[in-house]
Amino acid sequence: MKIQIINGPNLNLLGVREKSIYGDSDFETYLGKLRQQYPAIEISYYQSNVEGEIINKLHEIGFSADGIVLNAGAYTHTSIAIADAIAAIKTLVIEVHISNVYKREDFRHHSMLAANCKGVIAGFGMNSYRLAIDSLLIEEENK
Ligand code: DQA
Repeated sequence: MKIQIINGPNLNLLGVREKSIYGDSDFETYLGKLRQQYPAIEISYYQSNVEGEIINKLHEIGFSADGIVLNAGAYTHTSIAIADAIAAIKTLVIEVHISNVYKREDFRHHSMLAANCKGVIAGFGMNSYRLAIDSLLIEEENK
């Protein structure tokens, strides 16, 4: 099974950025643990701060990967273009957030992407990514 994780803007600064919200770990360290937990799954990782590059990545792998775990960062709340890209591809997308966006500012309560995703996982820290992979495994089992 091939799963693509895509992280959007500012998520390259995990472990440095607002640690009280996003925790102490950088994503690469967490990714190493995730790959150990799922040795049978090929987990690819891509991060970009640029909206169009996230769209290009969705187009590139959205017809071949078995699942996509997408944390679009703040673009979640603004990007019609990423929402359209999710609608255009075949692979299921799970929207994830490290923080519980519903406990935070009002502008984080709305997702432009969620309606085009299979589901949304938010608020479990880095484990939101793991839960998203589990949800993709369940989808695969039920195929
Ligand atoms: C985030 C939540 C977004 O509102 C924010 O802009 C981020 C990170 C999260 O993972 O909790 O950059 O997607």
